[in-house]
Amino acid sequence: MRIAVIGFGGVGKAFLELVHDKREVLEAEGINPVINYIVRSQGGIYNPQGIDIGDLLTFLKENQDITTYPQGGSKDISFERIMEEGDVDVVIEMTPTNLETAEPGLGFIRRSLEKGIHVVTANKGPILLAYKELYELAKNNGVQLGIGCTTGGALPSINSGVIDMAGSNITSIEGVLNGTTNFILEEMADKKIEYLEALKKAQDLGIAERDPSLDVEGWDTATKLLILTNVLMQEDKTLDDVDVQGIQSMTLADIEESLKYGKRYKLIGRSSLEDGQLKISVHPELVGPDNIFYNVNGKNKAVRYTSDTLGDLTIIGGASGVTPAAASILRDLINIHRGYSYIR
Ligand SMILES: NC(=O)c1ccc[n+]([C@@H]2O[C@H](COP(=O)([O-])OP(=O)(O)OC[C@H]3O[C@@H](n4cnc5c(N)ncnc54)[C@H](OP(=O)(O)O)[C@@H]3O)[C@@H](O)[C@H]2O)c1
Repeated sequence: MRIAVIGFGGVGKAFLELVHDKREVLEAEGINPVINYIVRSQGGIYNPQGIDIGDLLTFLKENQDITTYPQGGSKDISFERIMEEGDVDVVIEMTPTNLETAEPGLGFIRRSLEKGIHVVTANKGPILLAYKELYELAKNNGVQLGIGCTTGGALPSINSGVIDMAGSNITSIEGVLNGTTNFILEEMADKKIEYLEALKKAQDLGIAERDPSLDVEGWDTATKLLILTNVLMQEDKTLDDVDVQGIQSMTLADIEESLKYGKRYKLIGRSSLEDGQLKISVHPELVGPDNIFYNVNGKNKAVRYTSDTLGDLTIIGGASGVTPAAASILRDLINIHRGYSYIR
């Protein structure tokens, strides 16, 4: 399997390490991973015979700049080279998420699919803004589009909806879809601290980003919920259709009040039909011990589907961070090799 890695930040590097560490697992799956491209914004590595991953990982211990890697590193390597050579089977797209234009990832995914190359992506932007178009492109070109990483990384959310809910109508989707906000709310309750102190702790632990706005204002939850909704409920909604409220105004007094009643706040995203209308919202909600989300603790996430024929299904857990995110990409890659189809 010839693989191009596009984007070599936290998740890209973790993916390379996983392919190296899991080579026996991949071999048992019948996969011989030949990574012949690694592309960053200003150059990369191209080796038509396949990059020696062990050797590159050793090189990276001393060097940051992959364009100086002796076996194929160059400032001239870009995505265009893949389009010219056409010598890959799968593009793994891991460039930064842009929720307004979806670029550069959208163009990379579109052109790969048009060329008959499978794509697995970690990038929410293109899936949020152009899933239908990309789905049709994959279908018309007889290739797969793996998006398992885009709705919670390790949490099997979108793919369990596509594969394990096949044949049923999903009538509502609810979830605790953002580990950072879940961690902050729990810290406030457990340590009796104010929001800003809990946020700082999350940042110091590397759980929250330096600019935490997408997470704490609810937009990350809204994005994942929209992807789930559009893909699994065959909708075509945008962020403008979501009523979003984050956790940035929560106070310790709010939390202490909830604890008096044995309840906890969770940032819950919900898409459900009310009087025949689809309502999509993200709000901090009070939940008691009888609620399925009450025990979704720390950085954990959860998703719950209600369906007409398969009943209610809830999936809770999954590790967070760059390695679990990379592992969810590897999972899609293996499942594509096994012949599972994400395209109906
Ligand atoms: N971090 C997580 O835990 C996590 C979890 C799930 C999903 N994701 C998603 O996974 C993706 C990657 O995340 P990350 O944390 O690895 O991001 P990151 O550390 O910012 O890395 C992004 C990479 O994309 C490269 N890039 C940017 N523009 C490019 C272009 N035009 N052509 C080729 N490469 C380009 C960057 O290259 P330069 O460094 O040269 O600029 C960098 O190597 C994002 O979409 C993110 O939302 C992340």
